[in-house]
Amino acid sequence: MFMSMADQRTVVTVDGLAGTGKTTLSKLLAKELGFVHMSTGMLYRTVGYLALKESIPRDDEFELAKVISEHQIALVLADDRSARINLDGEEVFDLLYTPQVSEATSEVAVHRKVRESLVSAQREAFPSEGLVAEGRDMGTVIFPEAPVKFWVETEEDTKVARRLQQIIAQEGEISIERRRELEQQMQIEIHERDRRDQERGLAPTIRSDDMVLIENSGRSIEVVLAEMVSIVHSKLGV
Ligand code: DC
Repeated sequence: MFMSMADQRTVVTVDGLAGTGKTTLSKLLAKELGFVHMSTGMLYRTVGYLALKESIPRDDEFELAKVISEHQIALVLADDRSARINLDGEEVFDLLYTPQVSEATSEVAVHRKVRESLVSAQREAFPSEGLVAEGRDMGTVIFPEAPVKFWVETEEDTKVARRLQQIIAQEGEISIERRRELEQQMQIEIHERDRRDQERGLAPTIRSDDMVLIENSGRSIEVVLAEMVSIVHSKLGV
């Protein structure tokens, strides 16, 4: 049933590990194509957020599934045609992108019951719209029939530099010592999250043979985006 819904519209999938820049690229790609952008990490982040808020142990699969069923988690379309999360009718987007929620999310996302609870929300989202679906298992599990699938990669130094820029944008300029400390801390965090995402038994973050590799280091965003748009056009024959 889910498949036939997705079949009625065009879905472009974008998968990759944390910090590869896939959200920025997916958003721009969706805009360029006139599609809706959906970052599915938001759904998992909502579960991580609830686990923290309600003090649920992150290894307690049953309690985590229960908390998902007790709350209303809905995807809604924002003015910029990106999906946002409503939790029990409240906009919670801004609360989902803290380091604590990121860490909790990567731990809760390993559980089968958590992943299963979120499948239909992803497949049934915005059924009448073209969709750029971004996450870790979009092309492998959620939309295996998608006609265009991307896998985004970025060198580690670029990931750390981009993350540092985000922190500076939020906190203002930082000292050299703090910068070094943050860089080391980020490298450890990136390794740990990537390892967990890649090695989990269920829906691991992997590139499948039908995904087109997009290298997102050492090139401008415009060049990378143009490459993606041209691949979509040639694959869809438009
Ligand atoms: O893309 P993101 O950083 O917002 O994702 C947050 C976490 O959710 C990350 O640890 C991986 C997990 N996730 C997942 O397991 N499957 C998805 N489709 C999307 C995200």
